[in-house]
Amino acid sequence: MASTNVVILAAGQGTRMRSKVPKVLHPVCGRPMIAWPVAAALEAGAERVVVVGGPDRALAPMLPEGVELAVQDEPRGTGHATRAAAPHLDPDATVVVMYGDTPLITAEALRDLVDAHRNSGARATMATMMLDDPSGYGRVVRSASGAVERVVETKAPGDATPEELEIREVNTGVYAFAGGPLIEALDRIGTDNAQGEEYLPDVLPHLAPVHAHVLDDPTLTLGVNDRVDLALVTRHAQARIAAEHARNGVTIVNPEATVIDVGVEIGADTVVEPFTSLRGATRIGSGCRVGPSSVLTDAVVGDDATVLHSVLVSCELREGVSVGPFAYLRPGTLLRDRAKAGTFVEIKNSDIGAGTKVPHLSYIGDADVGEDTNLGAATITANYDAKTRAKNRTTIGTGVKTSVDTTLVAPVTLGDDAYTAAGSVITEDVPPAALGVARARQRNVDGYAHRDKQS
Ligand code: UD1
Ligand code: MG
Repeated sequence: MASTNVVILAAGQGTRMRSKVPKVLHPVCGRPMIAWPVAAALEAGAERVVVVGGPDRALAPMLPEGVELAVQDEPRGTGHATRAAAPHLDPDATVVVMYGDTPLITAEALRDLVDAHRNSGARATMATMMLDDPSGYGRVVRSASGAVERVVETKAPGDATPEELEIREVNTGVYAFAGGPLIEALDRIGTDNAQGEEYLPDVLPHLAPVHAHVLDDPTLTLGVNDRVDLALVTRHAQARIAAEHARNGVTIVNPEATVIDVGVEIGADTVVEPFTSLRGATRIGSGCRVGPSSVLTDAVVGDDATVLHSVLVSCELREGVSVGPFAYLRPGTLLRDRAKAGTFVEIKNSDIGAGTKVPHLSYIGDADVGEDTNLGAATITANYDAKTRAKNRTTIGTGVKTSVDTTLVAPVTLGDDAYTAAGSVITEDVPPAALGVARARQRNVDGYAHRDKQS
């Protein structure tokens, strides 16, 4: 899409969202709404992308490098908003105008529009759609010859006649213009209409003949005005994401019960079970089984791993790792090849060696654990020193076996092939191959049950 500039209008207030967050910053599948049309424009090959925002410049931090922000001081209509972008535009370019609250537009649809525009030779091309229920949309008024004459607005009563309200062809709000003529026409539109605004479609009579490019997929320009629309658009975006993974060889058992953010990577032959959310920058290898009922946020998972009923945040699992059911892996956790974090296990900021198992009821924090070690049920690191408020590290060697109910009071080291006895509170280092016993000896009180009768 050489010499194309794309203008994305996003300075409207979005009051119907009833939110402190600007409408176009609400996320759709893990990415702010505004980032969707921006991504489509960039993917289509736009040379320049200009987002029109309000004077608070709230959108600025969300825009990728190279995308320009134009400020519309007051929301005085779509024509006025486009005019705010004019100083950023190349008069010799094709200028596409669209909205920031229609996140489902695709790069392909934008390329098709620009191709249709260039093939028609018109100075303006409007993407239109036939709707059974066109209410609220601007209607496309065509001349006897079929050319687009103008758009008549219907949002506020007063602009359209009853005959015009019968028209089913609507303006989708996506246009392609010849840059220079658009910029000139924007200076010629007024505010003599029901809303007292500068309407962008009012440039069309100045740019005749106008070409209509009829879209047949109504989801492409679905707009978000409130959170009901947001849910609908999210559902479509989610279905697209799931379908793309499925085409790449991922089995998503129940796509409607699965949340996958845009940008998540999943390898072929991985199965994603229901009630699973894969969020943020999560990357999953091939041949894995993830879910049911798991939430992975910014997690990296190697090939052939299993994650069942677990919550993972900013952690890394290497090949063949097994997690869950009911594990919680927190930031900084690394499970090396074939390691296991089992049932009711929480691990944070720890390096768990290859083949090492943490099978049941453990909390492992700030630990470095070697290979082929087994941490018995309810092995706990006491990593927090309340006096100094420091988190201390626990170092556990290779081939270690801690028995059940071992408490490791950090900082402490267990040497290679060391053992601990069940119920030990280990406060001192255990040398390699030694057994650490740190518990009171058992004493039996004979006849205890009969003590009252005897006295
Ligand atoms: C607009 C079109 C209508 C079309 C419909 C498709 C006009 C006058 N009407 O109506 O023909 O059928 O889109 O959805 O253009 N915006 C600004 N600044 C403003 C006003 C709007 O940036 O001053 C942005 C909004 O953030 C929004 C977009 O422009 O993303 C559309 O504005 P909106 O007021 O919703 O226009 P519609 O009434 O939907
Ligand atoms: Mg709208």
